[in-house]
Amino acid sequence: MDTVLSALRAAAEPSRLRLLAVLGQSELTVSEITMVLAQSQPRVSRHLKLLAEAGLIDRFREGAWVFYRLADPARARDADAVRVAELAAVLVAFVPGDDPSYLQDLRRLDHVRQQRAQQAAAYFKANAKDWDRIRALHLPEADVETAMLELIGPGDFDHLVDIGTGTGRVLEIIGQRAARGDGIDLSQDMLLLARAALDKAGLSHCQVRRGDLFALPFDEQSADLVTVHQVLHYLDDPATAIREAGRILAPGGRLLIVDFAPHQLEFLREEHQHRRLGFTDDEIETWARAPGLDVLRARHLKPEHTGNQKLTVSLWLLGRAGVANRSSSGRAA
Ligand SMILES: C[S@@+](CC[C@H](N)C(=O)[O-])C[C@H]1O[C@@H](n2cnc3c(N)ncnc32)[C@H](O)[C@@H]1O
Repeated sequence: MDTVLSALRAAAEPSRLRLLAVLGQSELTVSEITMVLAQSQPRVSRHLKLLAEAGLIDRFREGAWVFYRLADPARARDADAVRVAELAAVLVAFVPGDDPSYLQDLRRLDHVRQQRAQQAAAYFKANAKDWDRIRALHLPEADVETAMLELIGPGDFDHLVDIGTGTGRVLEIIGQRAARGDGIDLSQDMLLLARAALDKAGLSHCQVRRGDLFALPFDEQSADLVTVHQVLHYLDDPATAIREAGRILAPGGRLLIVDFAPHQLEFLREEHQHRRLGFTDDEIETWARAPGLDVLRARHLKPEHTGNQKLTVSLWLLGRAGVANRSSSGRAA
């Protein structure tokens, strides 16, 4: 009773209810929340503290940034915490969608997201030509590509979708094993380079097109291999990206995520538009559950030498446990 009552008391204030509703839409930093609610940082911090103490929101620090999100029952540490996280979702559902102050918060949230997206788009526009070199700065590329091929196993695919395809490198290395390959990216500059690379490689059955990975232009269960290579750490909502990738995944399909393990290289935020400093296995496992996926295998490629700013690259192969990998050749891999 006490836990539920203190959660209700914490939520029973207009700004805090708005704050819960906004965090139900997106994971945000304090400075972003300050912009969305149009309130001073000390005020916002006080609201956040009360909501976090009541268990209605989760707080996590990553390097110099602190993120807040609506409490997630899947991450709750005990039965009380599960109950409060479920209560948070119920309270958010009761916020009227046409409430003027909530609508204004949503407009400002949209603005914050657009600003961020524009910054990232400007970065990719400016760096498209250099992208293959930049990627190699932090990744043991050949090792990563070998590990990717090893994780997806042998066999061919009917439909490969590479999300956030950039210069199309993943299509280049896996495309010849797919009857059809599609790369999706927001950046026209990246896509220009991807088209040239696919032409050069003679992969005419692989195409790239402009699209948003949060609303993929593919039917449900239409792809048997989906890849997301070095994209998640740029996103403000990696969980939704994984859910959307899971939506288009065929029952026996595989989703391969390649990104960084948790790290401390804060300058990647300032200089390279990274939002998240890597991901834990636990985080990926939790996000995989929403579209009904399991982490079937994970690999972590540690840098050979420390101190040269190379990062540990993690690979997670997701699928539905117990459902055999189905390839177009009918072979189980
Ligand atoms: C770091 S690059 C990775 C490109 C490629 N996967 C690789 O590893 O070389 C990230 C890519 O994600 C794209 N991207 C970011 N947000 C996106 C979104 N919402 N929808 C589609 N693409 C997005 C960027 O335009 C960029 O090309």
